[in-house]
Amino acid sequence: MGIELRKAAVTDGMDIYEMLQELPADENGFINQAAGMRFHEYKEWLKGKVQNAEQTGIVDGWKVPATTFWLFEDGRPVGCGSVRHFLTDKLLEQGGNIGYSIRPSDRNRGLGKVLLSLLIDESRKMGIDRLLLTIHNGNTPSLHVALANGGKIEKTTEERNYVWITL
Ligand SMILES: CC(C)(COP(=O)(O)OP(=O)(O)OC[C@H]1O[C@@H](n2cnc3c(N)ncnc32)[C@H](O)[C@@H]1OP(=O)(O)O)[C@@H](O)C(=O)NCCC(=O)NCCS
Repeated sequence: MGIELRKAAVTDGMDIYEMLQELPADENGFINQAAGMRFHEYKEWLKGKVQNAEQTGIVDGWKVPATTFWLFEDGRPVGCGSVRHFLTDKLLEQGGNIGYSIRPSDRNRGLGKVLLSLLIDESRKMGIDRLLLTIHNGNTPSLHVALANGGKIEKTTEERNYVWITL
């Protein structure tokens, strides 16, 4: 079966739900909104995620369209990622285009690098030509993942590395 990325869908079920319950609510700036949700709340939340991927402009004055993906290994969800379709001034400072997370029990065996590389492929298909990742200082695994995928550090502040990937 191998490794593949699937777009979040309203039909997603218990396997994705269980993975999301294993991911912290906020880990190095990666926000998992579904942490602690009940199953029916997660199903409602999924509808919003799917809608958000279909938007073209800013929603409610601030929300940028974003597409959510799940990483599957041999049919089992092992990670998730999100691609923001464009950036605002605020996201240029904090947040960037891409966020990703691997299930804690599956880390450090190369899946993070594969996940970002597949998210880059999807971003290219969406017509994005440059991706920003804002990576907290001290998040060495994520910095390694970004640099292994062609990322270039533009600047480093007291809080973050600003890494750009040209597609
Ligand atoms: C960042 C993250 C996705 C990486 O996933 P992963 O599957 O563990 O990554 P990989 O196995 O592909 O490789 C990570 C790289 O970091 C290195 N690494 C992994 N854990 C490490 C650690 N604790 N300390 C230092 N380096 C580490 C690996 O050696 C590898 O680098 P190398 O190939 O140059 O040796 C994962 O750690 C994660 O989900 N973190 C929490 C969420 C997060 O921080 N997301 C990014 C911010 S948006």
